[in-house]
Amino acid sequence: MKQPAAKRQLLTDVPTLRARARKHIEQGAVTPGYRADRKVVVELLNEALATEIVCVLRYKRHYFMASGINAQSVAQEFLQHANEEQAHADEIAQRIVQLGGEPNLSPEGMLGRSHSEYVEGGTLRAMIEEDLVAERVAIDSYREMIAYLGTDDPTTRRMLEGILAMEEEHADDLVSLLEELGA
Ligand SMILES: [Fe+2]
Ligand SMILES: [Fe+2]
Repeated sequence: MKQPAAKRQLLTDVPTLRARARKHIEQGAVTPGYRADRKVVVELLNEALATEIVCVLRYKRHYFMASGINAQSVAQEFLQHANEEQAHADEIAQRIVQLGGEPNLSPEGMLGRSHSEYVEGGTLRAMIEEDLVAERVAIDSYREMIAYLGTDDPTTRRMLEGILAMEEEHADDLVSLLEELGA
């Protein structure tokens, strides 16, 4: 049963909303109503950023090293994934700045901050398998971050949901490539 009037009471009244917005305007998009722990969110996003960068590098390596029969189409898939991971990295870095943080793009410790690994893989199959493992790592870690955020930071959450959906597509693509290579 809906009680519109009672529900409306839960929302902040307009004068308070206006007065609050005038405080700390230098914080930009971060308002007093921001409910998540900003420091933790920036930290998690920097780990996600490192994960994406490591994935870009691994896919690029695989793209250049792919050789053999079937290699052309597989290499194109590697390149496409590399570009999409780079787009994820950019989105994440942008959000970190919006939250008043700084994107950590230092090569120092990048692999340590990353959740996924950088494995070169000796054969086409090994490369695809390593990429698939990395996607599965990313899928689980994004799912956890989304659950952690809950309703505390809808914008970051929506961004992560979009990225998660694409990592799932990537994993699916890689399984198809393995199937095409044959057992
Ligand atoms: Fe990604
Ligand atoms: Fe991916």
